[in-house]
Amino acid sequence: MQSKIEKLKSGMLGDLKIAKSEQEIKDAEVKYFGRKGLFNDIMKGLKDLKPEEKQTVGKSANLAKKDLESAIKDRYLKIGHEKISGIADAEWMDVTVPGKKPTVGHRHLISKFIDDIEAIFAKMGFEVAEGPEVESEYYNFDQLNMPSDHPSRDMQDTFWIKNLTNHVLRTQTSPVQIRYMESHEPPIRVVVPGKTFRKDSDATHSPMFHQIEGLMIDKNISMANLKAIMTHALQQIFEDDSIKTRFRLSYFPFVEPGMEIDCTCPICHGDGKLKDNMPCRLCKQCGWLEIAGAGMVHPKVLKNGGVDPEKYTGFAFGMGLDRMIMIKYRINHLRLFFENDLRFIEQF
Ligand code: PHE
Repeated sequence: MQSKIEKLKSGMLGDLKIAKSEQEIKDAEVKYFGRKGLFNDIMKGLKDLKPEEKQTVGKSANLAKKDLESAIKDRYLKIGHEKISGIADAEWMDVTVPGKKPTVGHRHLISKFIDDIEAIFAKMGFEVAEGPEVESEYYNFDQLNMPSDHPSRDMQDTFWIKNLTNHVLRTQTSPVQIRYMESHEPPIRVVVPGKTFRKDSDATHSPMFHQIEGLMIDKNISMANLKAIMTHALQQIFEDDSIKTRFRLSYFPFVEPGMEIDCTCPICHGDGKLKDNMPCRLCKQCGWLEIAGAGMVHPKVLKNGGVDPEKYTGFAFGMGLDRMIMIKYRINHLRLFFENDLRFIEQF
């Protein structure tokens, strides 16, 4: 009997030693101490022993049980420790390592430039409006004094919309002049930035480009107001107070008189030459850059917008934005704006 107890004890100690989880310890407990466990067999056998044997065997069985219970406890503790130190190893982290900086994007140079121009005109009391990029012939041409049989329509290479008759990708931001007049009473001061579309494409033209339209209507508005506002705006845009403007007579059906606005070249400051006497390539040495179309709003166009031309006069202008950005930031190819190469975009 005594040797049976010893055998049991060493058997259980062996099982405990190789138990790798709490569950395996529990299994060992059931195997030895459970209701049908091996230890119970011994306890049941006690009753068949002689009284003096009963005492010694019972005593050593109890001792063995006590030893085993403390061995179980130890094994539980050990496995608990292993578990915790395992977690510590697996989830170890060095809190002193410098953090990774998340990459933060920013607005595209064109969007930023539009914001800047809007702010410049806002300071002079201009609101900002927008119009649709798919525009009706009615607003894009007809109401701007460009009827379908008028040769001036040929000035603009137009994208026509296939399944939407009489609609185009707007060739200019000027249709918003009419839209704005229809929904606002003078005095009007508004700028309209946006995408415009024409069928030409080369190093300095892309089929999609950006314009900003300006419209100012009130009593007694004259070309003097146009001159003052454009000169100030261009000085602010190019951050150069020495910029001057000049008007050259030109033709747009929706203004009368119509003109091109030139400004002194921001690179050579109107000299045509650079500091080292090198010729200025941007303005081809003439000292001036063509920057906008403009003019006094044609009385017919005022009428089309619901404004009384006997009471009010106004000016309008339209500037191409992409080329201005290229000049200001010394960018030599228009395509760079649209290729989405981060090495370019991140510079601004
Ligand atoms: N819409 C004209 C163009 O795209 C520019 C312009 C606007 C001219 C307003 C005069 C007045 O060429």
